[in-house]
Amino acid sequence: MPQLTWLVTGCTSGLGKQFIHSILARGDKAIATARGDISRLDVLAKAGAKVYSLDVTASPTDINAIVGTIVEENGQIDIVVPNAGYIEAGISEEVSYEQYLSQFAVNFFGVVKTTQAILPHFRAQKAGTIVFMGSVGGIAGDPGAGPYCSTKHALEGWYECLKIETAPFGIRSIIFELGHFRTKVFNPEHIQIRSSAIEDYTPLRTMVEGFIRGVDGNQPGDPKQAVEVILDVIRGEGAAEGKAFPDRLPLGGDCLVAMRKKAVSNLTVCNEWEDVIRSTDIAK
Ligand SMILES: NC(=O)c1ccc[n+]([C@@H]2O[C@H](COP(=O)([O-])OP(=O)(O)OC[C@H]3O[C@@H](n4cnc5c(N)ncnc54)[C@H](OP(=O)(O)O)[C@@H]3O)[C@@H](O)[C@H]2O)c1
Repeated sequence: MPQLTWLVTGCTSGLGKQFIHSILARGDKAIATARGDISRLDVLAKAGAKVYSLDVTASPTDINAIVGTIVEENGQIDIVVPNAGYIEAGISEEVSYEQYLSQFAVNFFGVVKTTQAILPHFRAQKAGTIVFMGSVGGIAGDPGAGPYCSTKHALEGWYECLKIETAPFGIRSIIFELGHFRTKVFNPEHIQIRSSAIEDYTPLRTMVEGFIRGVDGNQPGDPKQAVEVILDVIRGEGAAEGKAFPDRLPLGGDCLVAMRKKAVSNLTVCNEWEDVIRSTDIAK
């Protein structure tokens, strides 16, 4: 396998940071980005990564310019991982419009803008792989996760369309749907919980806050193992050896349970309601 060059966003912690370490360990080239002061990426630079400042909420013009500089200075980029993201938690009715916008600005439009910035280069080189970081929250909903789940469901839809549109240019896309992995995503410094309080929801809100405190640091998923599997799939080696490149891959036993439950539920509705579902077609 030739040496590949990866561009990853959101590399100060968690999966992004792990991506860079694992990419370098496989002998590939890694370009790490983070918003703000890139001295936060010193450890990755010392490990051999090229580092750049990239806030995924910046304007498309600014993101295009940064990605353009990255391509100019590093040559061909083979894989992009628009990884940056966070959880905006809150009861769906209590979360303000502005908070929904903040959540979409990072988790959805940040991904859209980063991907759009790299696509001209991928189309020109007639090759490239886009690795989307989906979530169990893009498969099913949970109380208190309305903003986050909305962005990850939106990502699923965008991915489905983009995959078909860009395939003729030799561009591969894949979405990994992760269950709960032990990163800083639920850490009080990363997760945002700032909804207003509607009295009726107090018991549910208390339950959600308890869940968030309880899950932080106790997630069942190993981030290093998730990234190693993702690298195997993209490079077609290790765990992916001899397997076809999938459209999507859930990671983590919790995500497997959620995906199966959703698939069975959808199939049950299709089977049990088939005559009713078909009854709305205009008769030929
Ligand atoms: N861990 C899980 O269980 C899990 C499950 C499913 C999906 N995911 C997805 O995996 C991705 C990485 O999450 P993680 O678990 O590694 O969480 P994490 O440890 O909290 O890392 C999130 C990263 O995103 C960055 N980020 C946030 N806002 C940004 C912005 N505006 N511009 C640039 N970077 C920004 C953070 O940088 P700062 O230090 O600047 O905040 C940080 O580097 C996310 O898309 C998340 O939704 C994670």
